[in-house]
Amino acid sequence: MPKTKKTRGAKKKSTLLTAKNTHRHALYQSAVQEPEADTRFMEERFCEKFGKSPILLREDFCGTGFLSATWVKEKAHRRAVGYDLDQPTVEWGLENNISPLSAEEKARIELRIADVLEAPLDPVDVVCAMNFSWWIFKDRDQLLNYFRSVRKSLPDEGMFVLDIYGGSEAYIEVEEEHEKELDGEDFYYIWDQDKVCGISDELLCYIHFRFKDGSAMKKAFTYDWRRYGMKESQDLLREAGFDTVEVYWEGSDEDGDGDGEFSLETHAENSEAWIAYLVATP
Ligand SMILES: C[S@@+](CC[C@H](N)C(=O)[O-])C[C@H]1O[C@@H](n2cnc3c(N)ncnc32)[C@H](O)[C@@H]1O
Repeated sequence: MPKTKKTRGAKKKSTLLTAKNTHRHALYQSAVQEPEADTRFMEERFCEKFGKSPILLREDFCGTGFLSATWVKEKAHRRAVGYDLDQPTVEWGLENNISPLSAEEKARIELRIADVLEAPLDPVDVVCAMNFSWWIFKDRDQLLNYFRSVRKSLPDEGMFVLDIYGGSEAYIEVEEEHEKELDGEDFYYIWDQDKVCGISDELLCYIHFRFKDGSAMKKAFTYDWRRYGMKESQDLLREAGFDTVEVYWEGSDEDGDGDGEFSLETHAENSEAWIAYLVATP
């Protein structure tokens, strides 16, 4: 996905990464996810709105549960439940993200192999849907149905956080490569927005990985999505029953790249590529 981490850790001596000796989920987590930034964002917004810390996070489309694991590790009062349809992905997450947690942390987290549409409507403080996962719903009514179900599981003091990307590059086929690092070893992450339909707004995207030994993991991840526009997404959230929908827009550095800082905005200049958080409250 276009969201990529800027930070690079200190180098430590390790084995050269190759397509054979590493796992696609480890590469994905390292290249794409920055769970500490998401948890900080959710904590800050919730505290601002409700004057208290959020406790229970429902992570929809949780994948390997990296974000949920980070959520419970960071603060002892927090709990998390993640939902993802894909059994092998969740199993990898259980082994690699949940197993290393302490017994006390494990008692505060659960990953469930299930459709987000079947998540029970038990009240939670925060529901999140990150890395544009909600674009899986290609039909407007399906997405509205999902947003409505999230709305039903939020109490008055509850919050739904989702991310969205756009800009002129979201409308065309693009392939971009970034150098990344896993355990001190470099690899290349390739975001391939392979097919973009001008009529249906459908996108077919892949993540590939390339390594210094010349090996590669082609189509390590596939995303068959519909792109939703910024305004229509806000309208859909309101239609689903959210009273307030706010946009937190990413600032840019001197090179014009995203700086990882998100501020509440009502107007923003369009660009080639932007990322924002939508924050919806009942
Ligand atoms: C883009 S990945 C997101 C992974 C991770 N949460 C992140 O933020 O990077 C989308 C995930 O959604 C899952 N998924 C797709 N449709 C789903 C559904 N209806 N219910 C639950 N999970 C679903 C896929 O299995 C995949 O793991």
